[in-house]
Amino acid sequence: MNKPLLPGFTLGNYMIDEPLVLAPMAGITDLPFRRICKGFGVGLMVTEMIASRAVDMGRERTQRMAELGDDEHPVSIQIAGSDPEFVTEAARWAVGHGADFVDINMGCPVKKICKQVAGSAMLRDEALVARVLEAVVAAVDVPVTLKIRTGWDDQSKNVENIARIAESSGIQLLTVHGRTRAQMFHGHACWEDIGLAKAAVSIPVIGNGDIVDAASAREMIRISGCDGVMVGRAVQGNPWVLAEVSAALMGKPTPAKPTASARWSIVHEHMLALAEHHGVRCASKLARKHVLWYSKGLHGSAEFRQSFQTLDDWQQMLELAALYFMNLNETAGG
Ligand SMILES: Cc1cc2nc3c(=O)[nH]c(=O)nc-3n(C[C@H](O)[C@H](O)[C@H](O)COP(=O)(O)O)c2cc1C
Repeated sequence: MNKPLLPGFTLGNYMIDEPLVLAPMAGITDLPFRRICKGFGVGLMVTEMIASRAVDMGRERTQRMAELGDDEHPVSIQIAGSDPEFVTEAARWAVGHGADFVDINMGCPVKKICKQVAGSAMLRDEALVARVLEAVVAAVDVPVTLKIRTGWDDQSKNVENIARIAESSGIQLLTVHGRTRAQMFHGHACWEDIGLAKAAVSIPVIGNGDIVDAASAREMIRISGCDGVMVGRAVQGNPWVLAEVSAALMGKPTPAKPTASARWSIVHEHMLALAEHHGVRCASKLARKHVLWYSKGLHGSAEFRQSFQTLDDWQQMLELAALYFMNLNETAGG
């Protein structure tokens, strides 16, 4: 067996031997999906972004977003916001909810967030970045981590500056999505820019953007020299891609893709967990998204989608999904 591609790193009291991180994705990486992903070899989890002001309101939905599983540690709760007081309060609240780390979001490109000068809009105000990070680091006794893009736009890329500010503010791990805010999710992530951040600091740097398989993970590591990789959109309907990336990182052979029956077990487990965590009303909406992703590219998926999308009744959704996924033959299931 080959030796691991990356040595891993320590973060607080944890040794992250397997530097594979599941990307935070709002509306997707809730506790049920994180649990599914954990089974495929994730070494570090991050929750969906929680707006710092939402913490204050004590909404049930916010509480649910911060619910962590005993089986998913080490896990980070991600906070977005720009007011040092609100962000600090939210960070303390996150630690109170059992977060092993607090991750600060300075990468979100969504207009609603950027309008409040939070998410990626923060990158335009380096002094504010330092104020927020220093305040959070001083307020909590767990490691604070940061997730950024490479800058606001091509003309104002400042990934190295932000990386240095992060390190000198006491941030213990930096994740870089290799796109600017202006790129949103278009074009290619620039892995060379992740390398600029890596060269600028001595804290671990996680590379993110456009990893879709073992080969792309290896290539990002080669180009950027990053200490770990984060996978996002490629896991949608395809969480077993994490096992492939994990095997590449750990120097193990590529595992086989799940058989049709193993795929159905995952879909079924995911649906049941969604209902338990969110209640069937909310689970129906979420399952529509996830189950359709799971069916992408499979035999007869167009017809299945058409019928599944029209259903509102949870029991009927479960039955139709079972009928479809259980009747895929093994070769069509790949
Ligand atoms: C639907 C969706 C929701 C996202 N939500 C978050 C979020 O809550 N916090 C965050 O830092 N990034 C968020 N992201 C960005 C991802 O974490 C990641 O940086 C981005 O998708 C690039 O990685 P990928 O190419 O592997 O998908 C989101 C992305 C998507 C597609």
